[in-house]
Formats: sequence, structure tokens, C-alpha cells
Amino acid sequence: MSQIKHVAIIMDGNGRWANNRFHPRIWGHVRGSAVVSDIVSTADELKLKTLTLYAFSTENWSRPLEEVSTLFKLLKKFLIKEKDRILSNNIKFRVMGDIDSLPTETINLIKEMEGLTSGASGLNLIFAFNYGGRSEIIRSVNLFQKMNPNKVLTESDLNQFLYCPEIGDVDLMIRTGGEQRISNFLIWQMAYAEMYFTDTKWPDFTPKEFCEIIQKVSRRERRFGNVSDQNQLGESMSKAESNKLTFALEAGL
Ligand code: IPE
Ligand code: IPE
Ligand code: MG
Repeated sequence: MSQIKHVAIIMDGNGRWANNRFHPRIWGHVRGSAVVSDIVSTADELKLKTLTLYAFSTENWSRPLEEVSTLFKLLKKFLIKEKDRILSNNIKFRVMGDIDSLPTETINLIKEMEGLTSGASGLNLIFAFNYGGRSEIIRSVNLFQKMNPNKVLTESDLNQFLYCPEIGDVDLMIRTGGEQRISNFLIWQMAYAEMYFTDTKWPDFTPKEFCEIIQKVSRRERRFGNVSDQNQLGESMSKAESNKLTFALEAGL
């Protein structure tokens, strides 16, 4: 497999998919939730380390009540329906976000699933639910300050207090539905992520397109602020040249 270990997906376009078919938006969410299982299986088969799925943002509370409650119900349904498959595939399940405001029954299902899979060594499957990137950062800073009132915050301190510190940086962010923005998703973890935007709306997203995107993005060169590998080979200094440079620097030239 490629260098792509952590894929994060903004599963967007459900509402427009339904409206284009003269159906209510919630129909799109129902169809979209069926796609989630296929994409999780594909991520597992591709041996990705982590798949983070954006299912409900802190801003999505502003939607009509019926839509919000459908999204909550679909999360619960997913947890019940996929439990056996998650367990038998050795998947480690986590929810990132403020789950305290969810119905008690859903909180209990989440905690049960997180507990049952905490020792799993397969795919890390993270559902970002009632999640916002800004609030995650603020939460982390506040937690840190409470425990370390007199210490200056470092990047690794901030990492340590994120919802799921173990997942690390995102390698590839895919957004379906045609919009080209990140909508408050994993803003800290995506500092060096590759971005891929597809016009396909989430209910039409297939394992085939998912694999093709990963293949395509794997061919991109990630430089992380460095120069290209090609340049480094072509222009790399010989030992003698590098010695000359060290000497010049030491001599203050
Ligand atoms: C994404 O689809 C699902 C959630 C935000 C929960 P949308 O509901 O945003 O669909 P569009 O973007 O309106 O088509
Ligand atoms: C982002 O999609 C949130 C999820 C997919 C859960 P939105 O549809 O809410 O984002 P905007 O409003 O188009 O930026
Ligand atoms: Mg949307």
C-alpha cells in the first residue's frame, strides 16, 4: 500500500442527491448511511490504518429538527446494525466530538462499542459526530491549562488533549458533493493533508471511486516543506562540496 494511512472523508451531498430526485433531504441521509458500510469495508480491505468519517458537525444543529433527529437515529441504527461486523473484523471504533448532548441510549451504545473494540488491532474507525475542529482545539487548550496552569503549551501538548490523539495527522481528505471547503473538519490534523474533491454526491460514492482516488493521490509527491525528491537527487551536494560549505559557514563567510 501507499503512504496513505489515514483517510478522512466529508460525506457531503446527501440533501442535494435527494432533492435532485424530488425526495426529502432525509431520504438522502438514509441512502448515504448505506454507503458508509461499503466504504468502511473497503478501507479495511485496503489496510488503511484510520478512517475518519464526518457524520455531524457542531454547525449542523442549525438544520431543521426533523433532519437533525434523522441523523441521530441513523447513527444509532448504524451502531446496532454494524456491531457484529465491526467486532468480527477487528475494527477499533471511536466517536470524536461532544457526545454528551446525544440521547442517553446512543451514548451507551457508543460507549459499549468503544469498550468492546478498545483492544482491536485492525482499522481505526472514527465517527466525527457533533464535531467541530475549532471547538476541539479550544477544548484541548482548556484541558491542558487546567492540568498545567504554569506551562507554555506546545504542539505535542495540544495533540495530547485532542479527542483521539492516537489517530495523528490526516494523509488524505476526500470531500464528496462538489464543494471545495473543509467546513471545520479536523483543521489541526489536516495541516499537511492531501485534498481531493469529487462532484459525486455521497449516496453515489462507490468503493471503486474510493480506490481510484487513493491510487491517484498516492502518485502525488508530498514535500512537507522540503524540496522535491528529484531536485534533491539532481542537486545534492557531493561530499567535497558539502565540506566546503561547512567550512565557509564556520569561517563566517
Ligand atoms: C452531508 O450531506 C451530511 C451531513 C451534513 C450530515 P448534506 O446534508 O450536507 O447534503 P447537501 O450538502 O445539502 O447536499
Ligand atoms: C459538512 O457538510 C459536515 C458533514 C458532512 C457532516 P456541510 O454540508 O454541513 O458543510 P457546509 O455547510 O456545506 O460547509
Ligand atoms: Mg452539505
